[in-house]
Amino acid sequence: MIVTTYHTENKTKTDIYCPADYNIFKSIASDGNHVIITDEKIYKLYSEAFVKHNCIIIKEGEANKNLSNIENIIQKFVTFNIDRDSLIIGFGGGLVCDIAGFAASIYMRGTPVGFVATTLLAQIDAAIGGKNGVNFNNYKNYIGNISQPQFVICDATFFKTLSNQDYMSGLGEVLKYCLISNTNLIEYFISNYNAIKERDKDVMDYIVKSCVKIKTEIVSQDTNDKGLRHILNFGHSFGHCYEIIDGLAHGIAVAKGICTAVDLSLKFGYTNTETNKQIKEIIKNAGFETEYKLDERHFDLLHKDKKKTGDYIDFVFLTEIGNPIIIKTPIDDIIKAVLEPF
Ligand SMILES: NC(=O)c1ccc[n+]([C@@H]2O[C@H](COP(=O)([O-])OP(=O)(O)OC[C@H]3O[C@@H](n4cnc5c(N)ncnc54)[C@H](O)[C@@H]3O)[C@@H](O)[C@H]2O)c1
Repeated sequence: MIVTTYHTENKTKTDIYCPADYNIFKSIASDGNHVIITDEKIYKLYSEAFVKHNCIIIKEGEANKNLSNIENIIQKFVTFNIDRDSLIIGFGGGLVCDIAGFAASIYMRGTPVGFVATTLLAQIDAAIGGKNGVNFNNYKNYIGNISQPQFVICDATFFKTLSNQDYMSGLGEVLKYCLISNTNLIEYFISNYNAIKERDKDVMDYIVKSCVKIKTEIVSQDTNDKGLRHILNFGHSFGHCYEIIDGLAHGIAVAKGICTAVDLSLKFGYTNTETNKQIKEIIKNAGFETEYKLDERHFDLLHKDKKKTGDYIDFVFLTEIGNPIIIKTPIDDIIKAVLEPF
């Protein structure tokens, strides 16, 4: 087991156990009045983990990431006598982490929280960096804050029980890290693709650890999302639209959003045809569709993106692999460009 700690601009400290045996959460939460938040599916699959703990079991699915669920959870905290000496543990995928993190951050003006991250996407992204929140109507993560967990546990054995869709969703985010970082991760990804498909533990431990390192380095420098951290949004402006409108899993929508972003990078003249083709080939070989269809519903949502100011959006383009750039661009110019044929 390896523990790395990241510190933030806000002077917080998070221990990341990666790779680790998830059962170590039992020793972290051995004494005291703690509570675990999980979802119905994980509760059934990993039932022995929850013995002897207060549990709050939420329903699966993005539709449940809302304020009324937060209110229900807080009501249960009160019933369980949870206070600021308690530990709230989010045991699940990104949905559970977002909900548990947000509920903990507002309960009694902030109660300690830690995550046992059970999906690939949660281990490399949602559990790391302190962004918490819920959706509001059709708008993704519109209500929330940034508040860091005390610990995150990443165990690749969880991937064995993930559905193919949820595993691919995590791989969509892995691709994002491969493309925005100036490391050898993209070469590793391409040369180990069969092992990745088979969910090989050693290969996935290496990938999770590499992605966590990339994310924590960025979060440590720009915890409050004022600049550098925006590069993590690569593929997400349109990704969120595909997720909401087309009902795709988060990372699968991000992979499509990356295709849209690399096409826009070409159309705006920030990259060349060769790079565009190379990236789309990598995404296709990884098992994702590279085609996308957009209409007014997607554009309405783009106008509501959290990264917009007025009629402009901080859009993340890519000039080449490892070199994302953030350009404040009129939303209407983006829509016009995306509709133009090559
Ligand atoms: N806060 C952030 O920085 C951040 C970053 C990225 C994504 N997110 C959010 O994360 C959410 C998506 O997360 P996700 O992809 O983990 O989805 P999820 O949490 O909805 O989980 C997907 C499905 O996998 C099941 N599951 C979880 N772990 C399992 C396991 N080990 N074995 C079998 N099934 C398992 C769940 O029960 C659920 O049915 C979205 O709401 C997204 O907005 C947040």
